[in-house]
Amino acid sequence: MQIKKVVVLTSGGDAPGMNSAIFGIWKECLDKNIELYGAIGGYEGLIDNNFIKIDYSILVGRINRGGSVLKSGRSPRFLKSTYFNRALKNLKDNKFDGLIVLGGDGSLRGAIELRDAGVNVISIPATIDNDLNFTYTLGYDTATNNIVSVIDNITDSLNAFGYGAVIKIMGRNCTDLINNVAKSINTDLVITKPDFDMKNLIKKINFIKKQQTIPPIVLVLEDVADTVALASTLQSECKIQMRPHILGYIQRGGSPSAFDRRYGITAGKLAVETLKDKECVMIGLIGDNLTKKPFEECFKI
Ligand code: F6P
Repeated sequence: MQIKKVVVLTSGGDAPGMNSAIFGIWKECLDKNIELYGAIGGYEGLIDNNFIKIDYSILVGRINRGGSVLKSGRSPRFLKSTYFNRALKNLKDNKFDGLIVLGGDGSLRGAIELRDAGVNVISIPATIDNDLNFTYTLGYDTATNNIVSVIDNITDSLNAFGYGAVIKIMGRNCTDLINNVAKSINTDLVITKPDFDMKNLIKKINFIKKQQTIPPIVLVLEDVADTVALASTLQSECKIQMRPHILGYIQRGGSPSAFDRRYGITAGKLAVETLKDKECVMIGLIGDNLTKKPFEECFKI
């Protein structure tokens, strides 16, 4: 099918590399003489007919920045049929030949609904959580580096004072990010389940204390345990200062790594190229190769 007019949106938690992907999409559209629009604020933009024509002035200076030039977000309205139908009508009225969705598993569910309603949609797995069935999702590499780098800073102070730390890490219900960070900083003090073995954790911290090498750094997957309360318990049990840290958006923001820029740009270009096949697939990295997968095969959790 001939593609003349495309719309892209970013949905869910922003992921570093989203802007690089939009750049790749824009460049491919420019080369192929395709008009490109962005829906503002993810699926909300489809519902509210809130579209912006993407040209280089929107992207200049932002390709190497985190966040999303199109704004991202979650859309509870999109789950309701009235709003979903309004979004469908807007896509039709604007005569878009294809939609590209950048986001995680929640965004993919939205893409599936649209595909089932006849929309020509391609998705790129963009989330720091790595919770889709690809080797890497866009943004995961940058977030890992962000977290490791900030833990390095924390460690300088822990070393200077002889303290330990309990650090809350994002990832929702996927353990990839926290485990990747844990390996990178060489800690096995990782809590990913609410029913973790407290006695064993205390034993391990006491052992590290005795060794007097690296400070004990406990990583906690968000919402699995209360970071502040846990630090306080470990402090009194192990007789060592355990400083709680909630990293928040330090993990998700910032410049995408070279890896995520290349990933975003190349996947973005391939997404535009693929729209003509009306295949409705997700395009992500398996190993080092961009790979197309049917939507249903992309859920990991
Ligand atoms: O999906 C990305 C993510 O950062 C998760 O790791 C986290 O659970 C969630 O988004 C946080 O969402 P919000 O920014 O809405 O607090």
